[in-house]
Amino acid sequence: MTERTGTTDGAATGQAGAGDAAEQGRPLIELRDVKVHFPIKSGLLFDRTVGYVYAVDGVSLSINAGETYGLVGESGCGKSTLGRGLLRLVEPTDGEIVFDGTDVRALKGEAMRKARRRMQMIFQDPLSSLDPRQSVESLLVEGLKAHGLADDKEATSRRLRDTLQAVGLPASALSRYPHEFSGGQRQRIGIARALVLDPDLIVADEPVSALDVSIQAQVLNLLEDLQNERGLTYLIIAHDLAVVRHIADTVGVMYLGGLVEEASSDDLYREPMHPYTKALMSAVPVPDPLVEDRRERILLAGDLPSPTNPPAGCRFHTRCPWAQPTRCADERPALREVVGGHRVACHFAEDIAAGRLRPHEVEPELVRPDEGGTPGDPGELIPTP
Ligand SMILES: Nc1ncnc2c1ncn2[C@@H]1O[C@H](COP(=O)(O)OP(=O)(O)OP(=O)(O)O)[C@@H](O)[C@H]1O
Ligand code: SF4
Ligand SMILES: [Mg+2]
Repeated sequence: MTERTGTTDGAATGQAGAGDAAEQGRPLIELRDVKVHFPIKSGLLFDRTVGYVYAVDGVSLSINAGETYGLVGESGCGKSTLGRGLLRLVEPTDGEIVFDGTDVRALKGEAMRKARRRMQMIFQDPLSSLDPRQSVESLLVEGLKAHGLADDKEATSRRLRDTLQAVGLPASALSRYPHEFSGGQRQRIGIARALVLDPDLIVADEPVSALDVSIQAQVLNLLEDLQNERGLTYLIIAHDLAVVRHIADTVGVMYLGGLVEEASSDDLYREPMHPYTKALMSAVPVPDPLVEDRRERILLAGDLPSPTNPPAGCRFHTRCPWAQPTRCADERPALREVVGGHRVACHFAEDIAAGRLRPHEVEPELVRPDEGGTPGDPGELIPTP
């Protein structure tokens, strides 16, 4: 079992500790073909569904207990929706979410409430996610009350102080309000609010994007320390590959609602295999000036297509410098293991890795934001000037 040396006392608060899956190296959470489609409504009299935003469209992944999964991708690719769907803060349209052996989507009422305590979320912007009218004490107690964990005053007070100490804030913070803190301190309050419930899984949605670079490292280090102390499991969402590089054991790259690549953090950074990941990585500067001068740059042509009308076949084929006729436009590639533990959703991953296929020019295409057209459909496109 993962040793839980946290500051909150499970026995005192009537909490069961982490379940069976808290044993390191076993999946704590598994997503199987999860979809979250948002209906697009139209009509004044009749609420007609005229289409869907395919925000998350068939994602399967698994996170081992005590490990960190970093989820990255461009804005709008569905990262937050996946994180929220996993916690059922938005209801998935399809697929399975298995948390510690239990199908979360089948849970109702009290059972779901209990599962929710074990799965907490940290948000990007602590200022907008923390009610400015509530003191830190009130913010922390709120969650405890919702889960019936604040009945014993003395134990609650101890729990609040221990939690604040764990996130590096003094007990005096309890009587203060969010606006009285710096950005980094506010994110510590956001972390404390999740932590006070003694969760097993934390979904952190862009936890450091709103912070200065110097503060980002401190908050990431804090998350890492808390994980080591408490055996926490993390899903950390970021649009910046550099943010998850050191903290994540496994990194998944999302594009237009789907996972296109997944590998251990080291493997992914050493050898990105999916053309989209290659393009993302080629945009990250390398500290060594010699390597920086020599390395290949892949500039992505055109805009991210709209998730209301994603391209058929491989969703990346409209921007992919390696796209091949006609398979890429016809057949959606499955996320498959290409080399030990490295999963890639590309028909030609092996050929690209071996240099048998060379990149070619891509005609850039823009998508009208109001129409969500599919590149390839001339009626829906505006050519790049
Ligand atoms: N409640 C909703 N109703 C309709 N569409 C939504 C809803 N929430 C998200 N979307 C759409 O789903 C798509 C994915 O959004 P999401 O917020 O998950 O992306 P993201 O990867 O987190 O982006 P960002 O990096 O900007 O946070 C977007 O096109 C977004 O407009
Ligand atoms: S399947 Fe084709 S379009 Fe998709 S990433 Fe691979 S080469 Fe590019
Ligand atoms: Mg987001």
